[in-house]
Order: sequence, then C-alpha cells, then structure tokens
Amino acid sequence: MTLDVASVKKDFPILERDLAGHRLVFLDSAASSQKPRAVLDAMDHYYETTHANVHRGVYTIAEEATQAYEAARARVARFIGAPSARGVVFTKNATEAINLVAHSYGRACLPPGKAVLLSEMEHHANLVPWLMLREERGVELRFLAVDDDGRLVLDDLDRQLDGVGLVSVTAMSNVLGTLNPIARIADAAHAAGAVVLVDAAQSVPHAVTDVAELGCDLMAFSAHKMCGPTGIGVLWGREELLESMPAFLGGGEMIRDVRLDGWTPNEIPWKFEAGTPPIAEAVGLGAAVDYLSGLGMEAVREHEVALTTHALSMLADRHGDDLRIFGPPDPHDRGGVLSFTYRDVHPHDLSQVLDSAGVCIRAGHHCARPLMRRLGVPATSRASFYVYNDEADVEALSDGLFAAADLFSI
Ligand code: ALA
Repeated sequence: MTLDVASVKKDFPILERDLAGHRLVFLDSAASSQKPRAVLDAMDHYYETTHANVHRGVYTIAEEATQAYEAARARVARFIGAPSARGVVFTKNATEAINLVAHSYGRACLPPGKAVLLSEMEHHANLVPWLMLREERGVELRFLAVDDDGRLVLDDLDRQLDGVGLVSVTAMSNVLGTLNPIARIADAAHAAGAVVLVDAAQSVPHAVTDVAELGCDLMAFSAHKMCGPTGIGVLWGREELLESMPAFLGGGEMIRDVRLDGWTPNEIPWKFEAGTPPIAEAVGLGAAVDYLSGLGMEAVREHEVALTTHALSMLADRHGDDLRIFGPPDPHDRGGVLSFTYRDVHPHDLSQVLDSAGVCIRAGHHCARPLMRRLGVPATSRASFYVYNDEADVEALSDGLFAAADLFSI
C-alpha cells in the first residue's frame, strides 16, 4: 500500500522543469497541487472531441458533454462516500461552496438569536462569509479556541453549542496541519440541534473521506488541491437539507420554469448551478479522482504520515531551536503541512532564497489572520507535501534554510 514516489513524480510533467539548473521542488500543494498527465489529457481530450454546453443541446456531442459532466459528479460522490450524486453540487471552489451555505442556509435558517460556531483556526473562506452574515443579519458568532499545540479546545463544547444553529469548522488546518475530530464535533452539534458544515479543502485531497463517518451535513472542497484543475469545487450536502435550502445564484439551468411573475427552482443539485458550469473542469476533477483512487487514498495518507514524521525529526535534528514548527507534534494528528519560523529570517525572504534553489514554499498569513494573531506571529513560512514529494525534497528545504542563514549572516 505504499506509494512509489519515483514513479508518481513521472506522472507530473511540471516536475521535469529545470529552474536555472535546479529541479523543481514543489512544497506548496496546500495552496494548489500540481496536475498529473492523466488530468491534463482528459481535459484536452474533452475539448478536442466533445465540447458543447451541457443539459441543453439535443445533438450527439452535447449529450456526450452532459454525460461526461454528470459522470464526473458520480465519481466525486463515490470518492467521498456519498450515497448519491444528487448531493454533489459543483461550485467554483471551496470558498464559493461555503458562501453558498452562508447565503442560502444562513439567510433562510439562521434568524437573529441563533449562533454560528466556528474556530480560531479557520481559513478566511470560512470566516468572512459568516462575518458578512453577522453584519447583515445579526447572527452571533462563537469561536472554538486553539491550544498551544494547535488543537481545538473542546472541553466546553456542549456549553458553546447551546443556541447554535450551525457549526462550520475545518477538517484540517491549512496552517497547523491539525486534523480535527469532526465526528465528535458533529455528534455534539447534532445533539444540540445544529447543522454541521465541514471545510474539507485540505483533508479530502490527502486521506480517505467518508461523509457518513464524518457525520457532517455539508462539506466543501476544491479540485485544484487534489490534482484537479482550478475553477471547480464541490459542496456536498445531505439531500433533504439541500432540498430545503433556497437557491444561491439565479440564472439558466437552476430553474424548472421562469415566468414574468416568478420562477420555479430546478431539482438538486442543478438548483445550485446557475449558468454554464465548469464542464471541462468537472472532467478534469473526475480524472483527478480516478488518479488518486488508483494510487489509493490509504497509501496517500500513509505516505504523508511517513514523510511528515521524517521531516519533523530531520529538521529538528539539523536546525534545533532555530526552527519553530507550529501545530501538533504527533504526525498522526496532522496532515503534511509544516508552518514554521526560522531564526529571524522573514518568511518572504526565506521563500525567495529557497526559490533560487528551485524550492517552492508559501510565505505569509496563509489566509488565516486570526490564527496568526493567536500564534503571536505576523506570518510564517509553510512547506506542504503531496504524493510527489519525498525525503530529497525535505533535504532541499533544509539546505535552503542553511543557505538563508548564510546569506543573512545570522
Ligand atoms: N487555502 C490555500 C492555502 O492555504 C490557498 O494556501
């Protein structure tokens, strides 16, 4: 069940790039992953042979395009253990999926007086839509705290859930890598009568996902972090819940009928897919799901635990106290995301030095400014791993840290 990373690397054409004599060491997959040839080919093939608008034309290629689009939906449903494709709504990305819930469920089902429970470790995508809802509707927002190891503080969960209509938390922090106990939170939330939305943008690409095991009601994720293209994301929802939620954007496709005095919504999932959808992107996402399923998601997770274990120990040995890594110390409690500060080198400077050796990391606040404040830092550097990373990539990162220390003479 282990990954053959040398062979996986060959599936990703971009990794053949030479950057001024250096190989590309891509350690920023938490921001967006690279794409295997199978995904690129599937999208090219679709455009070269099949493209037409979906659910509209009654000619051969339009019907084939519709079949390809809907087949991708069915693949995604299987990948996340969803009982049927009807619960899979295609959006632009995870951010739009969360905004959909805030606009639709939030405005229809969260009257003033109801609270929304979030956490201090959320990405801006799972904060700003709710801050907007608070400004507009006066809903109360509550936040689960983060402890010094980067874990959610859940001791007081039942009390915090009192009066809560919706809980929205990340399954895996994009900064700390923390894997949150979603099933436990969902159980408590349901006992308190709340609906549970999970931001799974960082978790779905990296491990087996089963919405029934998670116990959530709604789940958002993006294709581009899981070997698929940009421009498409997913909102999965329990079918009865999606049926009860009002439409989000208005336009073609999301209606059954339009009159000059009103309109009737389409069935789910199309009720939430106004306008021409991301058809080639859905085909690419379907191919990405096939590619990851071919690798085996157990193997993907196993590989990331092994590589994270190696990175934590090797970086600590080589850099000691010069390196401060945030998040849970046990690799089994986290994904392959390492946010860190290194001596007093600014993360942007560090990123530039690493870039000169072909190593790509992310530097900044990682779209999680409240969490940066909680950690007491303005920014961090972040290295994140995926199926094409190996110990040599971690070594390149470590060498780059030494090079930065030399360059800044510290
Ligand atoms: N959410 C992405 C990240 O963490 C963009 O980098």
